[in-house]
Amino acid sequence: MVMKPKILVARAVFPEVLLKLSDNFEVTANQEDEAWTPAQLIERLQGMQGVFTTGSERIDAALISACPDLKMCANMAVGFNNFDLDAMTAAGVLATNAPDVLTETTADFGFTLLMATARRVTESEHFLRAGSWTRWRYDMFAGAEVHGSTLGILGMGRIGQGIAKRGAFGFGMNVIYHNRSRLDAATESGCRARWVTKEVLLSAADHLVLVLPYTAASHHAIGAAELAQMKPTATLINIARGGIVDDAALAKALREGRLAAAGLDVFEGEPRVHPDLLTVPNVVLTPHIASATLSTRRAMANLAADNLIGFFVHRQPLTPLNPEVLKA
Ligand code: 8YV
Repeated sequence: MVMKPKILVARAVFPEVLLKLSDNFEVTANQEDEAWTPAQLIERLQGMQGVFTTGSERIDAALISACPDLKMCANMAVGFNNFDLDAMTAAGVLATNAPDVLTETTADFGFTLLMATARRVTESEHFLRAGSWTRWRYDMFAGAEVHGSTLGILGMGRIGQGIAKRGAFGFGMNVIYHNRSRLDAATESGCRARWVTKEVLLSAADHLVLVLPYTAASHHAIGAAELAQMKPTATLINIARGGIVDDAALAKALREGRLAAAGLDVFEGEPRVHPDLLTVPNVVLTPHIASATLSTRRAMANLAADNLIGFFVHRQPLTPLNPEVLKA
């Protein structure tokens, strides 16, 4: 009898995805969704050849050297800053992520957060729930215009382009973006977006949306100096990763009225949130839910599972991050 490879599914997942994995692997699951320390994760990975992770599990050099049987990690996320990709590649461990299937859903949420922030939805709801709404007033919760304004996008990958299209074609916005590499002319005109320097992006945007990956280079890409370059009437939206924004500097800028508002789905050190962000009124806070529709989360989980099956059964993962490992 051929032994099935052993895999660990580190977090609770859709039961049907677990069933599909069980057809191909000897699966150890965590349907109780227990929170494991890095040491507990290492302990559970002993003897495992594969692991299904989410963005919350860190796969680094220490874990890899403590888990000699590990051959592959499949992330149920497009972002993979929880992976030390260099260490994985050096050890011959394949990494996969879950791109594309969440692009439109995440772009929808970027726009949701932009509109909720610009139009002060959370702040005004708190006011209403507190029983403070006694009568109409001409400037009550007057927010920032969305249609026809300038939409700035930092990081212009698939999700950034989805947000650009929504802004340009849905809301008649003037779309500018900054990215290390400029898009080709056809892609730019497809989302009616114009490349500008980071300085121009910061100073011209009425709404600035962050959609860049988190790396050492993008750590605090938006800090006190960058916030100072933004219009005091502008809104800042972060659906990318915590750590790209200096949350303490942002809370200070919001409190001092140097920025109109912010919408944040991701935080430095989440699920902890900087205490100052919890007390400023002009901020919309959500718990990392930009990809959270059931159909998209199902597609992400299936893609991670299909990557495991693709690698272990067919030697052909669908979305490898370090395909050089396959050639070695
Ligand atoms: C995930 C995300 O929900 O895909 C990503 O990079 O940030 C989110 O869609 C989260 O990382 C859980 O895996």
